[in-house]
Amino acid sequence: MEKETCTFSYCAKPEIVEVETDLLIIGGGMSACGTAYEAARWATPKGLKVTMVDKAATDRSGAVAMGLSAINTYVGDNKVEDYVRYVRNDLMGITREDLVFDLGRHVDNSVQLFEEWGLPIWKMGDDGFSLDGFQAKDAGKATLKDGGKPVRSGKWQIMINGESYKAIVAEAAKKALEYNRQATGVAQNHYERVFIVKLYHDANDPKRVAAAAGFSVRENKIYLFKAKAMCLGAGGAVNCFRPRSVKEGQGRAWYPVWNSGSGYALGMQAGAELTMMENRFVPARFKDGYGPVGAWFLFFKAKATDSFGNDYCANPEWTAEAKQKYGKYVDAMGTAIRNHFMMKAMKEGKGPIIMRTDEAMDAINKTFVEKLGEKEGKKKVKHLEAEAWEDFLDMCIGQAGLWACKNIEPDKTPSEIMPTEPYLLGSHAGCAGFWCSGPGDIAGAPAEWSWGYNRMSTVPGLFMMGDIVGASGHKFSSGSHAEGRIAAKSALAFIFDHADYKPVIKQTSDEIAGELYLPYEVYEKNKTYSTDPAINPNYIRPQMLQARLQKIADEYFGGISTWYMTSKTMLEEGLKQLQMLKEDSMKMAANNLHELMRCWENYHRILSVEAHARHILFREESRYPGYYYRGDFDLIDDNNWKVFVNSKYDAEANTWEMKKIPYVQIVS
Ligand code: FAD
Ligand code: ADX
Repeated sequence: MEKETCTFSYCAKPEIVEVETDLLIIGGGMSACGTAYEAARWATPKGLKVTMVDKAATDRSGAVAMGLSAINTYVGDNKVEDYVRYVRNDLMGITREDLVFDLGRHVDNSVQLFEEWGLPIWKMGDDGFSLDGFQAKDAGKATLKDGGKPVRSGKWQIMINGESYKAIVAEAAKKALEYNRQATGVAQNHYERVFIVKLYHDANDPKRVAAAAGFSVRENKIYLFKAKAMCLGAGGAVNCFRPRSVKEGQGRAWYPVWNSGSGYALGMQAGAELTMMENRFVPARFKDGYGPVGAWFLFFKAKATDSFGNDYCANPEWTAEAKQKYGKYVDAMGTAIRNHFMMKAMKEGKGPIIMRTDEAMDAINKTFVEKLGEKEGKKKVKHLEAEAWEDFLDMCIGQAGLWACKNIEPDKTPSEIMPTEPYLLGSHAGCAGFWCSGPGDIAGAPAEWSWGYNRMSTVPGLFMMGDIVGASGHKFSSGSHAEGRIAAKSALAFIFDHADYKPVIKQTSDEIAGELYLPYEVYEKNKTYSTDPAINPNYIRPQMLQARLQKIADEYFGGISTWYMTSKTMLEEGLKQLQMLKEDSMKMAANNLHELMRCWENYHRILSVEAHARHILFREESRYPGYYYRGDFDLIDDNNWKVFVNSKYDAEANTWEMKKIPYVQIVS
């Protein structure tokens, strides 16, 4: 289908704002805030400009928007090598151990900074009981940096009072940007509510990225940022698969709905190599509210069972059967395998699956009263109960709302948990993302895993961080911030090493505006053809486009409707359907700026889903049982598939190259 472009005959031409900078940060989440903080510090004395562009308001953008109740990666007294082993186990044996090790050795510094910036962190009290962050401050407990002992919910996780977590981290980033702005004398270097649609290659060096274009979601303005290097931290992909939530509840998802695969799509279109895009994350969550379960499992020691009270992860028959297919990975009992057994129980009609929150609180009550006596023990339990509520009010208000409206008091009534629809991400318990250069100083890492600049993708000048760095999950909020800081330093080194470079692109700003605003023109040109502007043979509105994408992903690529099952034949048929959807996306129509964003978000999702499906098709095994299954290869086949799967998308030719890359274990 021939590609149209907007000629502005039907819609108003936007103002085109050109911004020249040295380093461009795309995103405003945890990783991007880390980049801004670190980059400003090194760039400013050298007179280099740092600019950040976020599709939302940075104070509350990204996955940490609502706040969190735990920081899931803090190494502390643990060994970095053990962190690598933990990540490898949880991600079924295949991770880039150089990247994981590098992250493990840097992450704590970010957490210590958060505390310095005002984030209250729980500490152990003198009586061996926990103090929340405020109590710890009042009691004069030492900070982490000065040797304070955090309250561990699990081996790697520490508890925080985190409602304002993102606002605190954003404040430090904004201050750093402002310092850079004043020193470099630019009018503005932090752009909020600007949605980046596409990256552009350099006119003289077609491999290198030179510019990023986007539009304001509030004003009739297009932005063209020209930069010497870019750090991309636009998050993972949500709402690609049909969600379990329906109708007006559909806005409810586990990962943030505003992370729509831009991180993947922008890099893919620029030609950056992907790795492990077959991976996904299917979180077990409190049913319908999507409330996280980690704190309940790890901190409150709650048990999840089938409806008859049986621990579904400890059924000897099921374990033996799983071991035959998935081998030693079953013993590691990582996140995917735990899901596998939960799904088994549900498919055998033993659901609903129940999180025994009431029993956990009861046990805590008994221990506290035993140790502290009736009065003091009960007082401490009351405080803990309040914390359990705050846990959700901090990071998942919808869950607290759902409990309230269903008359559930978690200390008295247990709750259902359930596997959700799949998400694509690389910072949580997943590892879908880009193939990036490692630090280069980790003994045992193959030389070809490092091409000079840590976290640079295979596209010169384009650095990745957070959710979109592949094969290195379990970074979480703190690790993403630390990774943003790592990327900042290498991107600046890249800029210094190419001091004479000036970004130039082939496309004119009018051509770019025409491409970005096409959905407007399509709408305006055709809207009177039918009586209902939502239905029209000449265009597709974003809501329908998204429904079609979700239906394809769900039914063919192993979503909830097939219990995460797919196969070669299913994937091939789904990819045919997806191809048609991709063609139809040239007819996306928007009747306002919000819809324009929805159109491009969907386009980014389509590309992310395509990468995901092609990777699953290429990998002929079920590496992640409990996340997805290949019905035709329902086994883990280490002999042939203990490898990375990498791919490269050619956006011009619409073709894909797939390959295997040997896995190398670095930590024994
Ligand atoms: P994000 O922080 O999500 O940031 C992405 C950014 O990109 C946002 O600013 C967004 O506005 C911007 N963006 C997206 N598209 C575009 C575009 N096209 N143009 C411009 N900007 C764009 N971690 C923990 O440590 N502890 C926890 O308890 C914990 N709980 C979690 C609970 C939930 C419900 C969720 C969703 C996540 C949780 N995490 C937790 C994980 C943590 O939030 C992520 O690992 C981390 O935020 C990832 O960082 P990031 O920078 O890659 O992405
Ligand atoms: S959250 O980030 O959205 O809060 P989640 O509730 O899944 O995530 O988990 C928080 C942390 O606890 C993560 O580090 C996760 O790997 C870990 N976790 C969750 N459930 C379990 C479990 N049953 N056993 C061990 N670790 C768990």
